[in-house]
Amino acid sequence: MEREFDTRSIHWMEPKREVHGSLTPPLYLSSTFVFPTAEAGEARFAGLEDGMIYSRLGNPTVAVLEQAVADLEQGEAGLAFGSGMGAISAVLIAMVESGDHILCSEGLYGCTYGLLAMLKQKFKVDFSLIDMSDPAKVAAAMRPETKVVYVETPINPTLKLVDLKAVSEIAHAHGAQLVVDNTFLSPALQQPLLLGADVVVHSATKYLGGHGDLIAGVAVGRKAFLDEVRMSTLKDIGAVMAPMEAWLILRGLKTLPVRMERHCANAMKVAEYLAGHEKVTRVDYPGLADFPQKELAERQMRGPGGVISFEVATLEAGRKVLNSVRLAQLAVSLGEATTLIQHPASMTHSVVPPEVRREEMGISDGLIRISVGLEAAQDIIADLEQALAEI
Ligand SMILES: Cc1ncc(COP(=O)(O)O)c(C=O)c1O
Repeated sequence: MEREFDTRSIHWMEPKREVHGSLTPPLYLSSTFVFPTAEAGEARFAGLEDGMIYSRLGNPTVAVLEQAVADLEQGEAGLAFGSGMGAISAVLIAMVESGDHILCSEGLYGCTYGLLAMLKQKFKVDFSLIDMSDPAKVAAAMRPETKVVYVETPINPTLKLVDLKAVSEIAHAHGAQLVVDNTFLSPALQQPLLLGADVVVHSATKYLGGHGDLIAGVAVGRKAFLDEVRMSTLKDIGAVMAPMEAWLILRGLKTLPVRMERHCANAMKVAEYLAGHEKVTRVDYPGLADFPQKELAERQMRGPGGVISFEVATLEAGRKVLNSVRLAQLAVSLGEATTLIQHPASMTHSVVPPEVRREEMGISDGLIRISVGLEAAQDIIADLEQALAEI
């Protein structure tokens, strides 16, 4: 019988338990692996025999993590990277060549935008950002040379959603692949592969790790494609995950479902509080009753997540809030136990040109993003209350 997600988050390594019966996975801090014979070394390089070669090509601790995340995302295989951007760049570069086009959701993590801008400028891979809230617009924007549709949902930081099932059907009808950045929800709340995505990418730095103590990335998808990425853009560009990071993420996975439940419950309370505050002009959170894409949120996601964006009247007012919080920490990143607050226009999205940021991505200068942590909700709210009173 297929076990539940909460059980699989904890029991990922049973088939691999090694000689001493250690409950937690062994940490293989080894850069290279000794071949039993010259013939075995040759066979491993030729791909004719399983077995480790060198930790840039694979490591036993990292392999446990790759398998665990693949299982949680319900994909065939996983591939680990040294950062979320390592995963995104390796996957995209493996998928496209000069002259191709990548169609993207209008909001993107700032460095993903930076990567696409570089691919366009240096390697003639074009991209466009479009509002994907209406699938008809996606169909209209597909070009014969569109090889990849790249989506964040919820979009960072505006939290608009994209209908993954509808967009995957459009992408596939045009012979393109759908890549989804699932960082904001984690597989505990959304499983894009089950909705038709070809590859899921993660900044494992966030909810998968969950404790703000590492930088890492993971991709999940078909084994044949990820084998190709492993032996090309992972191996040759080299953004590999270190074994210690894999070990820490495996520890984080054990509490992923419980943490996500609490992140969602806390964020719901904070969003409702902010929505009723006179100095807050807008709140974006998929859990709110008046969220414009409520039906899609309920159909596609198992919970609204832990990230909220809200707007105060001016950049100056936003700065005041950021400088006045005492419990929430003024830091970028998200998805960890501590509540983090940041200002996308001057921080995570500062690499995006202001007109693209404001007009195409909908990120106003007064927008504040809060990653609601695992503290008591009333303490997070009390902190925001005193900070908003400073405006
Ligand atoms: C949605 C999203 N994708 C990708 C990344 C990049 O991940 P990393 O910082 O692990 O490279 C981030 C980082 O904030 C992110 O928020």
